[in-house]
Amino acid sequence: MADKRQLENVLLVLLGPPGAGKGTQAELLARECGFVHYSTGEVFREQIGKRTELGRQVESFVVAGALVPDEVVLAVVADFIREHQGQAIVFDGFPRTVAQAEGLDRVLADLKLKLDGVVLIELSDDEVVRRLTSRRQCRRCGKIYNLIFSPPRQAGICDECGGELYQRKDDEEAIVRARLQVYKEQTSPLIDYYQRQDKLVRIDGAIGRDRVFQELVRLVVQRQ
Ligand code: AP5
Ligand code: MG
Repeated sequence: MADKRQLENVLLVLLGPPGAGKGTQAELLARECGFVHYSTGEVFREQIGKRTELGRQVESFVVAGALVPDEVVLAVVADFIREHQGQAIVFDGFPRTVAQAEGLDRVLADLKLKLDGVVLIELSDDEVVRRLTSRRQCRRCGKIYNLIFSPPRQAGICDECGGELYQRKDDEEAIVRARLQVYKEQTSPLIDYYQRQDKLVRIDGAIGRDRVFQELVRLVVQRQ
């Protein structure tokens, strides 16, 4: 496993279509390598669940599989980054548009920080649909399961904390297909954006979870 000292201050982005495994890998980076896992999707779902002002503002976008407006996302992320300076962070599902990536660059530059790398996890559309319609998540601790690839020991119950497993509303097949379309139109231009900055590396997301993780750690350590 990677030496945690090698990963101090590392700022990493996980990019890829819905269901590619961004959350799964970010969770492993947090557990095994001490990263702070920051998922804008999880933040929004939490705020929706708590019925906060932000939750009300973003709910219709998230449920439909559309993107939350850039200025809302950027305000939330900028606060988070300022509060976590000096820590290794893995951004999961952010940025998602070129405007968000430019906003991130500005926030980091103001703090004299920079992004260390962007990992694109690639997966075919068919596999995305198969994985997302069989995904379940723990309501209490957030752990991600898959009924085909990594089922819980007891149906409907989290192995780690005993919490209840649920299915995300946006994991219905029609919404998954809408999210894939949004990814292609609005997020995939980031591949070019980060390639031009020489920050992008690619991983095949179709290999097993642990092999993806080994490859990810190898690439991250190599870039240090
Ligand atoms: P978000 O929560 O970010 O969803 P997403 O990007 O669509 O990605 P997912 O969480 O669905 O997939 P994942 O890549 O994390 O895959 P996972 O690890 O779970 O965003 C939700 C919504 O919030 C958006 O639609 C939007 O409305 C809004 N939003 C969020 N960020 C935003 C932003 N920046 N701007 C604007 N709007 C924003 O894995 C999937 C399944 O596959 C699991 O069941 C897992 O167990 C399984 N699996 C994972 N890896 C493997 C493997 N290697 N082999 C086999 N199975 C695997
Ligand atoms: Mg996720």
